[in-house]
Amino acid sequence: MLGRKIPRGKLYHSLADSSRYMMQSLFRPMNRVEPVLRFEQEFARYCEQEHATAFPFARTGVYALLSLGAYPEGSEVLMPAVTIKGMVDVVIALKLVPVFVETDPDTFCFCMDDLQFKITSRTVAALVTPLFGLVPNVEAMTTILKEKELFVIVDFSQCLNGRYKAKLVCSYGDAAVYSSSSIKTLDTLGGGIVVTNSSVVNDKLKSFQTNLIEPGRVRLIGKAWTNLMRNLATQSFVFSCLTFYFIRILGMLKKDSALRMTGIRSREALEELPEVWFEKYTSIQAEIGLKEIFKVDAMDRKRVRLAEKIKSTLSNVRFPLTTSESNNVYWQLVVEVDDAIAMQGELALQGVDSATSSLELVATLEYASNGDEFPVATNLYNNGLILPCYPDMKEDEEKRLFAALRDCIVYKGDS
Ligand SMILES: Cc1ncc(COP(=O)(O)O)c(C=O)c1O
Repeated sequence: MLGRKIPRGKLYHSLADSSRYMMQSLFRPMNRVEPVLRFEQEFARYCEQEHATAFPFARTGVYALLSLGAYPEGSEVLMPAVTIKGMVDVVIALKLVPVFVETDPDTFCFCMDDLQFKITSRTVAALVTPLFGLVPNVEAMTTILKEKELFVIVDFSQCLNGRYKAKLVCSYGDAAVYSSSSIKTLDTLGGGIVVTNSSVVNDKLKSFQTNLIEPGRVRLIGKAWTNLMRNLATQSFVFSCLTFYFIRILGMLKKDSALRMTGIRSREALEELPEVWFEKYTSIQAEIGLKEIFKVDAMDRKRVRLAEKIKSTLSNVRFPLTTSESNNVYWQLVVEVDDAIAMQGELALQGVDSATSSLELVATLEYASNGDEFPVATNLYNNGLILPCYPDMKEDEEKRLFAALRDCIVYKGDS
């Protein structure tokens, strides 16, 4: 079908900004302390927390937080069954044991029954991870964990600005970490910022941060380049004429090769953690953060409006319910379908690109799994389809998207 095609997602930077960030990654000084401090302060304020400390990745922040506890070898950390593999790798590198918790079908976060079941005398910490901008009952979850005196880290990489009742999800933990990596709502060409109200925790994080090694410019240039290319590839004209067909051809050559949002990643164990995980967050990234942070609220409002509209239009599709107290931000609008590859193909026939998450089903990683089964998480991983839902969708794109979704999803479900 000819005409304008709709990409699976878009970056939160304008094309002009992505080009500017490319130039800055090439030429701007990157080791200045002051912009990093200013961004940390601004991010803490934005997250309604007292302190923030910036790291090169969210996984580095989790590594730093878990190393503060100096837990005995073999202590257990409760983790989501679906997240990035890096989180598992840092837990294992600290000689701790990841214990995976099944996913709740209504929130895609921890299943409460399984969470309680998995707490043992060896459990020391939990990584609560709200996914897709959906807000679970973090209050109940963290109350249970804190009653057991566990250290609670909230990974709100996918849920910046999500609130349970009136409180931001990041405020429910002892500390929380946000990944400002590519395609996130606040994207600073990578980075992981830890927020906390505890000055004791923050002081220790700051001394961990001081010992990080100097960053490499080539890596930052690589990130800026990927950012610029993704941005270009998802511009309406380029996507409709080139990228869409490229993705289709990939899918024809190998059915699942174009399924994951940003591609397939390695499932292999690491012999040691890469050095780049322990590089300093650069002042170039902090300056980008200072510029982009003021755009997030407006973008969120537009995306949430569109997500609500899609949900009400597809009234007989079962979107995750979350809770009556959830203020979801729908970073990605996900719906479970019977067969994600088939549905991706059907939507593509109508000019609509879709994808499943690039997160890993970490509970089944060979080197970390204890053999338990996770049917809900597995179904989410295989058949959780992310529908296009981004802030600057044009009116005609919206119309075409709705027509395609009605055709492919609602009527299919009815028949
Ligand atoms: C839930 C979650 N945690 C963490 C990350 C990324 O973390 P890092 O900054 O370590 O790459 C992502 C990125 O997609 C994510 O979705």
